[in-house]
Amino acid sequence: MSAIQSVPSLVRTATRFFEAQALFAGIELGLFGRVAETPAEASELRDELGLHPSITFDYLDALVSMGLLSRDGSRYVATPIASSHLDPAKPDYIGGFLSLNQRRLYPAWGNLAEFLKSGESVVQKLSGGSSPMPSLYSDSARTRSFAEGMDGYAVLLGGPLAEKFDWAGVDSFTDLGGCRGMLTTRIAAAHPHLRGVTFDLPPLKPLFEELVGDGDLRDRVSFQAGDFFADPLPDTQVYIAGHVLHDWVVERRRDLIRSAFDHLPPGGSFIIYDSMIDDDRSSATFNLLMSLNMALVSGSSEYTVAEGTRWLAEAGFTVREPVALNGLTTMLVGDKPS
Ligand SMILES: C[S@@+](CC[C@H](N)C(=O)[O-])C[C@H]1O[C@@H](n2cnc3c(N)ncnc32)[C@H](O)[C@@H]1O
Repeated sequence: MSAIQSVPSLVRTATRFFEAQALFAGIELGLFGRVAETPAEASELRDELGLHPSITFDYLDALVSMGLLSRDGSRYVATPIASSHLDPAKPDYIGGFLSLNQRRLYPAWGNLAEFLKSGESVVQKLSGGSSPMPSLYSDSARTRSFAEGMDGYAVLLGGPLAEKFDWAGVDSFTDLGGCRGMLTTRIAAAHPHLRGVTFDLPPLKPLFEELVGDGDLRDRVSFQAGDFFADPLPDTQVYIAGHVLHDWVVERRRDLIRSAFDHLPPGGSFIIYDSMIDDDRSSATFNLLMSLNMALVSGSSEYTVAEGTRWLAEAGFTVREPVALNGLTTMLVGDKPS
């Protein structure tokens, strides 16, 4: 996001949610999956999706201007990004994550000014704030909706993480807070010598089983149900904690980092990734707003690269230089001395 320096950019910022809602509606309507399959005339889309005739063209053409649809003569086609990431039939579908923003975060952000005064997060309001998770797993539909949301992020980060960490000398890893195992399966699929464990709360196990099924990875990936603050962590050479530290207050983050250090063998590594904030806290708008988002939703925050590095070093890790996994997410690796 670039700095606001003119009145038009001020107006664009105030109306950026138009674009978000246009995207969410396309996912909700199944539009992107439909046009990823075969191009369609506006009249076909109108009839099939039940759109109102007077607004169909403006909606479809707005999506063209946003780069999500293109026109082939009079027919609408999914652009490559929409086809890869917004068609539920594709392996790199992230619509579940994008929709989570619509359902869970958009309403919460509507109360930002009130939150900035009260400091009371959604979780505190709902449950007294002991854990960010119970309300998400209160029934199986909510559990699935959250897990599909997390799948979207894992799909985006699985490739970069499989590539940017050197897995050659490692034979096992455990993804702490790995949700239903999407990241575990992506890393294991990219590196056939690896065995991977997803460690998460019990409600995620059936969704892990559904994801892995009887597929090729069945012998190399598994789910271990547990509480990473209370239960022994699995024996492994590498722990991953992605989008986990940002769920918790600093003392709990330090607890988890210390526990990972204690359970790792000498030479083992701990990988953390989050939307870390640049150290001078001035340029990464998305990450700073994501930090506010974590406060609003979970009563926690993002953190700077320097803070993450310090917590890892305090536990005893030798910390490598930060690595950008994508434009939004930074990875830090701590190595336990041999
Ligand atoms: C924000 S999600 C991150 C999911 C995934 N690692 C990613 O990168 O998107 C946090 C995960 O931590 C898990 N979690 C929360 N508290 C936990 C606990 N005490 N023990 C184990 N897992 C926990 C949640 O169930 C959830 O899957």
